[in-house]
Amino acid sequence: MIVSQTVSELGASATLQMSKKAKALEAQGHKIFDFSVGEPDLSPPQVLFDGVMEAIKEKQHLYTPVSGTLAIKKSILHYTQHHQNLSGWDVPQVCVSTGAKQVIYNALMASLEPGDEVIIPSPYWVSYPAIVKLSGARWVPVSCNEHNGFKLTPEALQAAITPNTKWLVLNSPNNPTGTVYDTDTLYRLAEVLKKFPKIFILSDDIYEALCYTHRPCPHILHVCPELQSRVLVVNGISKSLAATGWRLGWGIAPQSLLEGIEKIQSHSTSGPCCLVQHAVAQTLNTPQLEAYILENHGIFTSRRHCLVKALQRLPGMDTLVTPMGAFYVFASCRGILHHPTIRALGWRTDRELADGLLTHAHVCSVPGSEFGQEGYLRFSYAVPPKLIEEGVERLIHFLTTPSKISE
Ligand SMILES: Cc1ncc(COP(=O)(O)O)c(C=O)c1O
Repeated sequence: MIVSQTVSELGASATLQMSKKAKALEAQGHKIFDFSVGEPDLSPPQVLFDGVMEAIKEKQHLYTPVSGTLAIKKSILHYTQHHQNLSGWDVPQVCVSTGAKQVIYNALMASLEPGDEVIIPSPYWVSYPAIVKLSGARWVPVSCNEHNGFKLTPEALQAAITPNTKWLVLNSPNNPTGTVYDTDTLYRLAEVLKKFPKIFILSDDIYEALCYTHRPCPHILHVCPELQSRVLVVNGISKSLAATGWRLGWGIAPQSLLEGIEKIQSHSTSGPCCLVQHAVAQTLNTPQLEAYILENHGIFTSRRHCLVKALQRLPGMDTLVTPMGAFYVFASCRGILHHPTIRALGWRTDRELADGLLTHAHVCSVPGSEFGQEGYLRFSYAVPPKLIEEGVERLIHFLTTPSKISE
């Protein structure tokens, strides 16, 4: 067989599988309420399009330096200081990549060896364990409890650390839970990390602009700047600027790690698209972009409210943890699994529930098991408010009169 054992054992992305099934149903003429999406339905800011048009008019077309142009790196450092209140790095400590995912991939590939361990708080974004597996290292899930707001506790962190631990992954705001780490928890996690100077921290800040509790979003480097020599800051334009398809993200890291990241990139994709780099360099710190981020923040704040309120009306819905960031609600579905309609259908797990709700009610969500936490469904609110209301109405209708919908 041509495909390696490691790759054969990797699961396909559940989110993609659900949306593939949703698209197939749509193609058959069904109206689908798709809450599985991981990308905003909004348009990126006009200045970003203007920036690309300018680069095209200038006929820009050449390879850029592998880790990005000087102009974009300066813009990124300025943005990071202004929006995240994080500073203290220089231009050579920035690498611009084809999305935040590539930064994470490069960093883990550049640093991990068989036998190394990566602590991943669970629930988690599915690509973290997949990338660790590809590197040949071991991932160590640490379960985070809903009653603690799905936050990793210092005690659980301490218990998971071994002499082989090389990385801790922190993702705040979090996908799939929407959890935002508060400064007190970050401080206590930092106190543990200070005792283990060999552990690096991968701070995935891709949803940082969508934090509804604080501005800027609390960061481990706010509470413990001395960790800076061991932190990789990951960010990008996919979520904050609704530009998922433009494929641009960045990492800011200590020099030695950055050089490793750059090496991997030089032998895989080289620098990201020169047109997009130009547009981002020109616009990242403009008032128009600042206004855009604020506007989207307002839009998602109100959609979050709308989805939480709507889901609370579902028969059998357990208490919902209101997400503090990103654009997901991670809702316990244990009560729904006990609902008479669902019991009669024989659906016993979150996977069966998500699949059944898609097939029969045409409502698409992602089962929590895919993110390492059974008994939950993830609903995205990166969708129009009308779809939120109608989709939840559809679920309520299904639970109360299932036969009518599945006809
Ligand atoms: C937590 C998290 N990190 C990183 C990414 C990847 O972002 P990008 O599109 O910039 O590669 C995603 C995308 O869904 C994500 O949810």
